[in-house]
Amino acid sequence: MDGIDGKTGKARYIQSMFTDLSESYDVASTTIAFNKDREWRDFAASLVDGCGEKVLDLCCGTGELSIRLLQKGAGRVFAFDFCRAMVREGKEKYGLKGVNFGVGDAEKLPFPDETFTCVSVAFALRNVSNIKKTLLEMKRVLKKDGRIIILDLGKPRSALIRKSYYCYFYYIAPLLGSFFAKNGARAYTYLPHSLKNYPAQEGIKKLMEEIDFKDIQVYDLTKGIVSVHVGNK
Ligand SMILES: C[S@@+](CC[C@H](N)C(=O)[O-])C[C@H]1O[C@@H](n2cnc3c(N)ncnc32)[C@H](O)[C@@H]1O
Repeated sequence: MDGIDGKTGKARYIQSMFTDLSESYDVASTTIAFNKDREWRDFAASLVDGCGEKVLDLCCGTGELSIRLLQKGAGRVFAFDFCRAMVREGKEKYGLKGVNFGVGDAEKLPFPDETFTCVSVAFALRNVSNIKKTLLEMKRVLKKDGRIIILDLGKPRSALIRKSYYCYFYYIAPLLGSFFAKNGARAYTYLPHSLKNYPAQEGIKKLMEEIDFKDIQVYDLTKGIVSVHVGNK
């Protein structure tokens, strides 16, 4: 796809895509996911139980996981994203409800080592330029025994479900996206491409093992359309 080659190129492409999408992101993403995204984020946020003293929600977008982390018992939540327009939307909704928003790059976090008790990332690891580098940054800022939570699209194990799901993402989601969001066709045409190159359930688990996360668990949600990875430092 044009404009997403190379590290800086990809980051710029993603930033401009989410800037265009920011005002309609919530409606478009919920519509495309038939409202299931709320359930998926609720499940991921519930895993903060026992490690929620100080949480960093990376690539927070408009804060939909960040607020749920607070609702599920997190003490303090710092929500961080490199797209100012997405952060602005989040701040308007949840800034006064206790989420602390900030702007910055997930691959180069401005926090000292061992700052957070939990670091989460939802529907975004597919978008970063270097997944391993991002996971290493997440690990660096986690305290000892801190938890990582990753929610993202998965690759269903059943061939039949996988085929229907790819068909939906390649042909129907871009149409829905262009209807519900400004410049939505671009974002929702990019979506299946991001998934194609994403290592998903097995690949992310392998990377987590390589960088030495412990007690790794992988949950398939909605037949593996979405998956959640959890591990401890
Ligand atoms: C699909 S949205 C997900 C937002 C939110 N986590 C949610 O659950 O709705 C992906 C977000 O990741 C952000 N993002 C992508 N790469 C990033 C990076 N390297 N650093 C910070 N944010 C990034 C984008 O700006 C966008 O807001």
